[in-house]
Amino acid sequence: MLKRTKTCGELTGEHVGQVVTLNGWVDAWRDFGGLVFIDVRDRYGLTQCVFEPEVGEALQAAARELRSEYVVAIQGEVARRLPGKENPKLKTGEIEVRAKKLEVLNATPTPPFEIQGAEANEELRLKYRYLDLRRPAMQSIFVLRHRMSQLMRQTLSDQDFLEVETPILGRSTPEGARDFLVPSRVHAGHFYALPQSPQLYKQVLMVAGFDRYFQIARCFRDEDLRANRQPEFTQLDVEMSFVEDQDVMTTMEPVVASLAKEFTGETLTLPFPRLDYHDVMERYGNDRPDLRYDLELKDLADLATLTEFKVFQQAKEFGNRIRGICAPGGGQKYSRKDLDGLTEFAGTFGAKGLVWLKVEAEGFTGPTAKFFPPAAQEHVRTLFDAKAGDLILIVADTQAVTSQALTNLRSRLATELKLYDPKSFHYSWVIRFPLFAWDAEEQRFVAEHHPFTMPLEEDLPLLDTEPAKVRAQAYDLVVNGEECGGGTIRCHVPQIQSKIFGLLGLSPEQAEEKFGFLLGALKNGAPPHGGIALGVDRLVMLYAGLTNIRDCIAFPKTARGADLMTGAPGEVDSRQLRDLRIRTVE
Ligand code: AMO
Ligand code: AMP
Repeated sequence: MLKRTKTCGELTGEHVGQVVTLNGWVDAWRDFGGLVFIDVRDRYGLTQCVFEPEVGEALQAAARELRSEYVVAIQGEVARRLPGKENPKLKTGEIEVRAKKLEVLNATPTPPFEIQGAEANEELRLKYRYLDLRRPAMQSIFVLRHRMSQLMRQTLSDQDFLEVETPILGRSTPEGARDFLVPSRVHAGHFYALPQSPQLYKQVLMVAGFDRYFQIARCFRDEDLRANRQPEFTQLDVEMSFVEDQDVMTTMEPVVASLAKEFTGETLTLPFPRLDYHDVMERYGNDRPDLRYDLELKDLADLATLTEFKVFQQAKEFGNRIRGICAPGGGQKYSRKDLDGLTEFAGTFGAKGLVWLKVEAEGFTGPTAKFFPPAAQEHVRTLFDAKAGDLILIVADTQAVTSQALTNLRSRLATELKLYDPKSFHYSWVIRFPLFAWDAEEQRFVAEHHPFTMPLEEDLPLLDTEPAKVRAQAYDLVVNGEECGGGTIRCHVPQIQSKIFGLLGLSPEQAEEKFGFLLGALKNGAPPHGGIALGVDRLVMLYAGLTNIRDCIAFPKTARGADLMTGAPGEVDSRQLRDLRIRTVE
């Protein structure tokens, strides 16, 4: 085989006159009768090769036989392209390789889609992932991803963190999703669970004195998939001893800043803003607000007294909220039809209607403007500091519905009205989440983060009186409206941990059966500790400007959890099932 001496991405005017060998895939071929051009591609770039008449009939004929994606070795001399034929868009655009030898390393049938063509449909891309990953756009994502894990390892290692691997076959760790289970052959009827995160092992490592741990860890969660979720994903998992919540945030900020510097060129100002959960919920309607733009939600409860509008009267009567947002320039931009569209959009989040008001110099206009006497208009206008041309949207409903409808309107309007630079980044921490969330279906408390979280010290007495009000020593890293990380200080005191298990509905026996090893570890000299996990895939998405998490995972699963290339999940033979003593039922 003619082995490569240069890659397809490195030849420039400096190499003119050198004899080189390239190995790669045929990206494109053009036959001009006398001249046959073959573009060869590899991970590093693209180089134009030319087969001139001087090479002889046989070699030219062989070049003419080449087709897209053939694997080839071409040897020849680097030459400057003819004047006017340079391609400034290519790093190798000054030169071409005048071929002298050709070896076909492998032929291939016509590919199901063009590697450099328009993006194929996703099913085809996933089925032929090896072709999809050959696309330069995909390759650059994995270069970024590789660089990201390198930087993470480097910045943490420089701060004395140790990378320790924890088991994949383990016991179920509750992170709020379903487990993927693996049956044990030796212990018939017993199952391992794939880790939803290395949470419990990393806490035990703290008890073992490892003090500063990290791992680029694979996590498995059997949950409904969305554009930003995969059943198998990667975390930068971190745990530290003898720390408080501020220490974990302060340790992670330089790690994130190093990523920002590398991938956006931006020097971040540290520390990131730390925003109180309750405040954020009130001002933005969700716990991971996109803060590249303002559009704050405001409380408009006073409208129930300032107007006689029945929608607001009823809200007051039922103890519901009246809240709104004001979009600069929205009044000018949106037509009546657009506003019907926004009303329908709000409806998908449960809103029974949407009051919209266009702010004009003379006053509000819109179908419900007549219900707003001057004092009500003045109140709303002042609250939002609204200007002529703005658009005010109001929803009256429960806390949950007003939050959902308005937070989604907020992001839709900010995008449609171009209120921010989509290439910009905003980083913040949301802190002090509630410790528990109420699960109405199961009529019990569930952990907002996970059950191993320490309450705020001042809220400890509420565990006995009003558990719903207990706030946690928890912090989420939010970037551009995406939850990119989450962590907590842990309960290192066994009594508090047992109490929390109790509030989550676990009897002492169940707690002992499931987490006895953890309670045991906590009793045996557990240091105060806490940690965090960053979502690596989500960070890659952000920095690569992707909207779908599948694009930043080499071999992702579809929304139905299937791997279209290998056909997983697949059937297994009956012998394997017999060994595991498993019988499937319809
Ligand atoms: P948490 O469950 O918040 O915390 O996960 C941490 C981060 O991981 C990312 N993430 C996901 N990314 C892709 N697909 C998924 N299905 C998925 N689920 C989560 C998110 C999230 O912020 N053990 C705790 C961490 C700790 O307390 O130290 C944990 O796993 O970006
Ligand atoms: P209706 O009386 O239901 O026709 O509603 C009159 C106006 O109030 C319409 O513009 C509705 O979109 C709006 N509206 C109705 N219910 C609500 C609500 N809960 N919140 C905000 N606007 C509403």
